[in-house]
Amino acid sequence: MIKFPDNFLWGTATSSHQIEGAATQGGRAWSIWDAHAHTPGRTHNNENADIACDHYNRYKEDVKLMGDLGLKAYRFSISWSRIQPDGQGKPNPEGIHFYNNLIDELLKYGITPWITLYHWDLPLALHTEKDGWLNPDIADYFEAYAELCFSNFGDRVKHWITLNEPWVVSILGYAEGVFAPGRKSREEPYIVAHNLLRAHGKAVANYRTKYQPSQKGVIGITNNCDWREPLTDEASDVEAAQRSLEFFLGWFADPIYFGDYPAVMRERVGDRLPEFSEEDRELIKGSSDFFGLNHYTGLYASDVPPGEEVQNAVYGNGGIFEDQYVQLTAGPEWKLTTMNWAILPWGCKKLLEWISERYDNPPIYITENGCALDDKPEDGKVHDPVRKDYLQSYLTACHQAMEQGVDLKGYFVWSFMDNFEWALGYSKRFGITYVDYETLERIPKESALWFKDVISNNGFEPDK
Ligand code: GAL
Repeated sequence: MIKFPDNFLWGTATSSHQIEGAATQGGRAWSIWDAHAHTPGRTHNNENADIACDHYNRYKEDVKLMGDLGLKAYRFSISWSRIQPDGQGKPNPEGIHFYNNLIDELLKYGITPWITLYHWDLPLALHTEKDGWLNPDIADYFEAYAELCFSNFGDRVKHWITLNEPWVVSILGYAEGVFAPGRKSREEPYIVAHNLLRAHGKAVANYRTKYQPSQKGVIGITNNCDWREPLTDEASDVEAAQRSLEFFLGWFADPIYFGDYPAVMRERVGDRLPEFSEEDRELIKGSSDFFGLNHYTGLYASDVPPGEEVQNAVYGNGGIFEDQYVQLTAGPEWKLTTMNWAILPWGCKKLLEWISERYDNPPIYITENGCALDDKPEDGKVHDPVRKDYLQSYLTACHQAMEQGVDLKGYFVWSFMDNFEWALGYSKRFGITYVDYETLERIPKESALWFKDVISNNGFEPDK
């Protein structure tokens, strides 16, 4: 039996925009994602999240299903424009009421709420009227919004994640333009990233001075990173893989653990990489009580000699290629999910070890891991053996990393249920719970039943 420590945290994750629906119900205003999805051509089949899983109206049913699975924790995010429609100023009591109800419902089933404050759904007014993440003042708006959450929910919520995947906000939102707000620039992503870090730092400082002493919770950030394996043993490829990891994860984690961006980014990005003021550096350094990691896949990395072109063949997972000069490729024998992401559990082990070594063995939570597959119900059941195998192989890799001394404290499956997969609309199913988008019926998939056993046994039998 592969056994996890007694207090290991087992959970699932979702985000507000992907599941709630009720886009204009209860006083909610649009976020940049509502506007993006309502712009023709931005999402698969022009799908939007107006209804999504209708979780806003069905949260009781959903929390009951979570209770049936024996989940210890549930990670969800707050829709900023639901509780503060303009992104600043007057709060919306109905929105606050919804999250109070959700939190209370979770606690009723003994499920620990983990709240993400920002999972990409910036109030639209902040974008159109204030330039969103490009404006340094966003850090103050975010701090005020975060305080609204600490003061309203912090009596019961003890686990906070400020930002989900600032890399995605910066690169997919402002470099590749495939996510909201759909901008394509070589300068803006670095400014946006800087402001995201500053916003995170301010929210954490606010929590630590005003709320943590009495509420006694923890606060951190969740970054995403794929593994980068050198394509060959050549020093140039080994360096390329390392450089790629530093541009991906180091970009956000180095300022938090070391107080500055990686040196390799300074060298290559030059003036486009902002400098931290002393005040910001102080706020950001040491600003995470744990290391939140979203991880799904990996690729080979190889060096691109000066003068040669990077073949940007891989959707979304690179970064600004001309700054890194890293070529990414998939192994021909690797199995892919419907995202075309390789199933690479050994990459998960290596990434955990890389983090542990670079950042001095921080407590780590995997706040997302999972896979998209073509699931279809048959006779009221959803048979998804590939997902079960995926989860089991990644958890085995996690366990191996823990045996090497990695301080992994918990694991959240992405996702509790099928949902609106951003630009890919409803075409990708990541859930361990199936959602029929016609009837909105939920069906726990076989992987959910397997995960339920994992939780109750605190481990699983390895495959023979
Ligand atoms: C993460 C993101 C989630 C989900 C998942 C699968 O990057 O935080 O919202 O979409 O990927 O693509």
